[in-house]
Amino acid sequence: MTMRNYHASRWDEPLIHAMGAPGRRGQLFPGADAAGLVPAGLARQTPPALPELAEPDVLRHYLRLSQETMGMIGISLFGTCTMKYNPRAGERAAAAVNAIHPAQPAATMQGLLACVHGLDMILRGLSGMDRFTFQAAGGADAAWTQAIITRAFHAARGEGNSRDQIITSLQSHPCNPATAATAGYEVITLPLGDNGYPTLESLRAAVSSRTAALMINNPDDMGVYNPEIAEWVRTVKAAGGLAFYDHANFNGVMTRIRARDLGFDACMFMLHKTFGVSKGGGGPAVGAYGCTAELAPFLPGPIVDRSDDDFTLVEPARSAGKVREYMGNLHQVVKAYAWARAMGAEGLREAADISVILNNYMEKRLLQIRGVSRSHPDQPGWRLEMTRYSLQQLFEDTGVSAVDVQNRMSDFGIDAFWLSHEPWIVPQPFTPEAGEMWPREDIDYWIDALAHVVDEAYRDPDFVRAAPYNQVVRKLSSADLDDPLRWATTWAAWTRKHPTPA
Ligand SMILES: Cc1ncc(COP(=O)(O)O)c(C=O)c1O
Repeated sequence: MTMRNYHASRWDEPLIHAMGAPGRRGQLFPGADAAGLVPAGLARQTPPALPELAEPDVLRHYLRLSQETMGMIGISLFGTCTMKYNPRAGERAAAAVNAIHPAQPAATMQGLLACVHGLDMILRGLSGMDRFTFQAAGGADAAWTQAIITRAFHAARGEGNSRDQIITSLQSHPCNPATAATAGYEVITLPLGDNGYPTLESLRAAVSSRTAALMINNPDDMGVYNPEIAEWVRTVKAAGGLAFYDHANFNGVMTRIRARDLGFDACMFMLHKTFGVSKGGGGPAVGAYGCTAELAPFLPGPIVDRSDDDFTLVEPARSAGKVREYMGNLHQVVKAYAWARAMGAEGLREAADISVILNNYMEKRLLQIRGVSRSHPDQPGWRLEMTRYSLQQLFEDTGVSAVDVQNRMSDFGIDAFWLSHEPWIVPQPFTPEAGEMWPREDIDYWIDALAHVVDEAYRDPDFVRAAPYNQVVRKLSSADLDDPLRWATTWAAWTRKHPTPA
């Protein structure tokens, strides 16, 4: 296949604070002057230090910044995150939320509450749970919701102090042990057995009267599905613990299994992963947390209730506390609702099947590329919607790392990131996930781009190590990120760290 060469626009664009001149402005209409509207006691004595620019300067500045940003609209196969395309219709629907203040009375936002309740009902159907909250602003936040609900649940039964351990597995997402530890639990991490997941014996040895909960994903981030999961849940619950299903890797099992049917007490779905919503580079996202009626009184409030003729906001009786402001990122809930309605039940089922078929198609082709191997190569069996691979052989042969390969692939229009979260259990890992929406040409192009870069690496490793060549920035120096004195996320912080010499 012919590689498409990408070339980003490059501008020497200054920060907007370094642009403009006093007195420059956009259009002002008669009567729009705010002078005198703010009571004297509340008005500023000195104007804020804002840049002053004419409208075309502002337009050109932001246009150039947008040209320099590749965005998530190349081919993006971010495994364990599935950066799906975000349909524009969903964006349009969500824009209506801009006109709503989250603190306004429920009676004045019935349409929005209908969407929240609608998505709640769809997720209940997909999981078997009784109630969902959308307050958590991501998957890790939803795991945190589980950790605090676990604490509140056991405390209400007089076991808050004695149940002080949470069990997880080595290949669960790190947010499970991390949130459990942050909530004060001792974390027991089960090692892997021969099949790629921990053995039932290791779980049986770990559970006790100290077990507060199991927090686990399945399939895990290697794409390995633990078929003994129902027995796992039975074992934990027999010991008095709760069972939480991190359902972030839901794409391949969507409509095929339900968390409640496997015995779980609670689960979470990432709307920014499975349900067609943008992750937005760290937010705003949503981790939809659902649980049984037994745990529902501990949910963060408010949650949306439906009565005969309207939607109301209710505070759960024994809430474990809020995890975010108001009801969370409701724009994303509207988008996910629109996506799920457009897909329909049949569409969701088909999407699950396509994602598994495409992943196995990818696997067949990727494993033919020199230097590429599958994680746990000795373990036979299918992976579900994604597979974790390793470029360790390529690294040993050439010194070219997975990060180098990823950088070079971006020169051909392949969006980063698609390696693996830390810690890297598999050396030089990568985890593309096809999902259901990419046509076969795009999947083939992605694989061909990898094969092309691997071939370059064997012929000229230094060339690949120096990539990317066609991006706005050639190489980012991590030294800048590691030194708090050199970076700043706001202009105010920047000026504090870099005062103008007197
Ligand atoms: C299995 C799993 N759980 C949890 C998370 C955490 O989600 P978030 O990044 O939205 O906090 C991820 C992220 O990719 C994940 O793959």
